[in-house]
Amino acid sequence: MYAPMYDGTVPPTDDDLAATPGRLAARFAAVRHQTEALAAPLDPEDQVVQSMPDCSPTKWHLGHTTWFFERLVLLPWLPGWAPVDPIYDHLFNSYYVGLGSRHPRAARGLLTRPPLARVLDWRASVTQGVLDLMASAGPDALARVMPLVELGIHHEQQHQELLLMDVLHLFAQNPLQPAYLPGDSGTAPVAAITDTPRPVTWTDHPGGIHQIGHDPAAGFGFDNEGPRHQVLLQPYRLADRPVTNADWLEFMAEDGYARAEFWLSDGIARAEAEAWQAPLHWFRPEPDGPWWQMTLRGPMPIDPAAPVVHVSHYEADAFARFSGARLPTEAEWEVAAAGHKVEGNLLPRGVLHPQPADPRQSGGPVQLYGDVWEWTASAYGPYPGFRPAAGAIGEYNGKFMANQMVLRGGSCVTPGGHVRPGYRNFFYPHQRWAFAGLRLAADA
Ligand code: AVJ
Ligand code: FE
Repeated sequence: MYAPMYDGTVPPTDDDLAATPGRLAARFAAVRHQTEALAAPLDPEDQVVQSMPDCSPTKWHLGHTTWFFERLVLLPWLPGWAPVDPIYDHLFNSYYVGLGSRHPRAARGLLTRPPLARVLDWRASVTQGVLDLMASAGPDALARVMPLVELGIHHEQQHQELLLMDVLHLFAQNPLQPAYLPGDSGTAPVAAITDTPRPVTWTDHPGGIHQIGHDPAAGFGFDNEGPRHQVLLQPYRLADRPVTNADWLEFMAEDGYARAEFWLSDGIARAEAEAWQAPLHWFRPEPDGPWWQMTLRGPMPIDPAAPVVHVSHYEADAFARFSGARLPTEAEWEVAAAGHKVEGNLLPRGVLHPQPADPRQSGGPVQLYGDVWEWTASAYGPYPGFRPAAGAIGEYNGKFMANQMVLRGGSCVTPGGHVRPGYRNFFYPHQRWAFAGLRLAADA
């Protein structure tokens, strides 16, 4: 059953989309609507619970993305705007110390009030406020407001992906194993074409001096994607497809989770403490029977040909060592991705889980974008010359540049038009609830 709500409601990003207020306003309205469409299949009860401290309730995502526009766009820029309720500033501020007090993250699931209906009303009024502002502001105000609206759009898209990650995590805790959307995706399943995963092939890269990082001429990028700068790469090889479930089952069969020789010390400590035996959301209906996984479309048998998903950086790193390989650096990934189209199994396809690579597609890497985020060997840190913006939005990315690892590419729940070659996602190395997998690299 295909869900038309994912289909084409959000226009793709292009260079001049933000060039006129009218186009930016249209994109803003579409992205706001998309968030509400993503929440629509859920019951109200589904939208208030927090399944772990890293996750947030859907209602909180709906509120926080609204807070962002009210606090950073409407309060400073729309004359006469009065906050709908002053306490929302405290409830829905995530981590901006410069913007005042914050409700503790781990207690977001205790917010049975304000009720969902009131959060949705607040959303509607803030959406209308931003549209009014963009329609009425003079050129000087627009020049200041438009970059904030653009940032708010990309922020909201990040939360669309988080919302789906968090719903899956919540539903995976429930013995009813609810499907967020029922049935199959309705798109032609590539898996039907073959039973055997696309074999791994490798592309050699000569190394040398390359440019990486976001080029401002190419449209929007988060501050952490720049400045564009030179890197020196040694010759390397990159696998043409992500690691599959079949590959991962081999690792498990070889007792990979228990063999310390493959693991970083912090990694195996975490694996032991949390009794990791398989990727997150995997389970066996029968002890010693075949593995299944919980997905946004409910429980599904493991598809050997599909990319492995919901692994931590620690597991990805251990798997790479087991394979006699390593994870690519983010620079290696970006240089290899240059010249490839930003397309793939992203949220607009409506599949909502990773799909096998098309075995008929040959020549060069596949699934660079979509399906699964790819863990890299790169620590999330500032590029040379990085300066966070002045003021509160300087807290957006820069202050998280310790102890996290970069992921590249995008996943099956990443909104359309959200990712680009220089996009830097980041999570802590133990975190597993993102739609994250890996692609192998090796020294040439
Ligand atoms: C890039 C996914 C780690 O979840 O905090 C949301 C995205 N930034 N609001 C996060 C984000 C601000 C960020 N991640
Ligand atoms: Fe946020």
